[in-house]
Amino acid sequence: MTRIKLDARRKVVAVVVVLAGVALLALPFTSPGGVPLIFLFFGRFHPLVLHFPIVLSLIALSVEITRRFFLGRIPLLATEVLLGAATLSAWVTIVAGYFLYASGEYAGDIILQHFWAGTVAGMGLSVALGMLLYYHATGRLYGIFLGVLLLTNGAVAYASHLGGTVTHGQEYLVEYLHMMRAPDPQIVRSDHELLLYADMVAPVLEARCVSCHNSQRSKGGLALDGYSALFGAGDSNHPAVVRGSLSKSEAILRMHLPVGNDEHMPPAGKSPLTADEIRLLTFWIAQGASDTARVWSARGIDSMRVSLDRLAPELRKYQLRTAVNQAKDAEAFGMLNQLGPALGLRIHRDSLAEGNRLQLTTALPPRPMTGEHMRALAPYYLYFTKLSLVSSGVEDDLLYYIAQMSNVQSLLLQKNPIDGSGLVYLSKIQGLEVLNLSFTRVDDRHALELLKFPNLKKVYLYRTNVSHDVIAAIKRYRPGLEILEEEGPYW
Ligand code: HEC
Repeated sequence: MTRIKLDARRKVVAVVVVLAGVALLALPFTSPGGVPLIFLFFGRFHPLVLHFPIVLSLIALSVEITRRFFLGRIPLLATEVLLGAATLSAWVTIVAGYFLYASGEYAGDIILQHFWAGTVAGMGLSVALGMLLYYHATGRLYGIFLGVLLLTNGAVAYASHLGGTVTHGQEYLVEYLHMMRAPDPQIVRSDHELLLYADMVAPVLEARCVSCHNSQRSKGGLALDGYSALFGAGDSNHPAVVRGSLSKSEAILRMHLPVGNDEHMPPAGKSPLTADEIRLLTFWIAQGASDTARVWSARGIDSMRVSLDRLAPELRKYQLRTAVNQAKDAEAFGMLNQLGPALGLRIHRDSLAEGNRLQLTTALPPRPMTGEHMRALAPYYLYFTKLSLVSSGVEDDLLYYIAQMSNVQSLLLQKNPIDGSGLVYLSKIQGLEVLNLSFTRVDDRHALELLKFPNLKKVYLYRTNVSHDVIAAIKRYRPGLEILEEEGPYW
């Protein structure tokens, strides 16, 4: 092919590529629905293919800078091929991302920002490729090409950062930076003040056990978050910790089982406790498992001092993480203190729950709750354990939002225009134990949904449209569920 013909083709391809790139910007405006499963399957490849455009656009930029400023012998075709591959893989990534989005598994502001940044980056790559082809064919507009390529790399980096935020959570990238700025608990408190339980034992349990044993998720029926919880028993009926008795403390027994044993804690797949961690827990339980014993009492014993010193760096990281979380909670509570009254809601600490849990009540007289209210509360959903939304105009649609508050244990919805069609959402709340539906229009058909609530213990159905037959049927299938035909609490 002659040079002239090739250059003519380059110009045509340049136009096509730029147009295709600009067309990508239409995607965020379309609302996907009814997508065939095969496309949803394709969408799941987004996390895999996205690495190609990220790496390729960076390499294309590096090769081009090297070629232009240092090693002129590299042919322009090299940048062309790399940028072509980057653009092509970006298109595949964006379309796959679009279908992942269409699956409805992801939603929210960050996803939308990520979607936008991704399509803008894809358009940037397409325009850069078009400009490069044009430059190759005509020898003109090099500066614009290089400028677009540079900016596009910035856009790719920003889109990937937002994508990472979606996967790992907003604080993932900067978590250690926050920790570096937090005050050092070891400095704030002297050695004599440090507590064996709160400053050493609890952090070990928190790091190694609490992910499976907490009030939301209690494997084996056992929670280990909080001092008093440790003395309780799970399904085995043997208490996890018995003061002063290693042979009766189920937690200690399980740590000492051979690693392959089914009952070894933590279970297979998690790294077992280190000898120092076991020595700390053993010492603490043998000494009476007190929550007031000081660290210095253990430091008096030579073997313990060595273990404590070896544990210190890990514990320090944990304590910093706790300090950062506390600061974050304090900030969230500050925001809620302003938001609550503005929305006609009262927000208090849940005095019965451990940790930072909140209860939400409508102010009197109640104002109607809307989707707007719920969206404003969205960043704080996981703080709420108790909700009292009596006479608040709550309709079934709103239960969709309430169901996102996945830590709610008690939900009072009496005197609301609910027919029960939204109960299907509430059945997703794992820890929901008490539900008050008195004075609502819930009927027989929707009431059967209650059978699907995983941990519901009490439901109030006074003055609803549910018949006695259906109540009797639910009682038969779920003997553990108490159905009360009375008004129930308001607090
Ligand atoms: C990956 C999840 C996981 C982690 C981490 C974990 N456990 Fe468990 N634990 C389980 C499961 C599942 C069971 C229930 C099965 C069984 O009894 O073996 C259980 C049961 C137990 C029981 C028995 C409860 C009872 O009364 O039946 C004790 C005690 C226990 N774990 C202690 C611990 C301690 C202490 C740690 C931390 C050192 C820990 N676990 C870490 C999953 C976990």
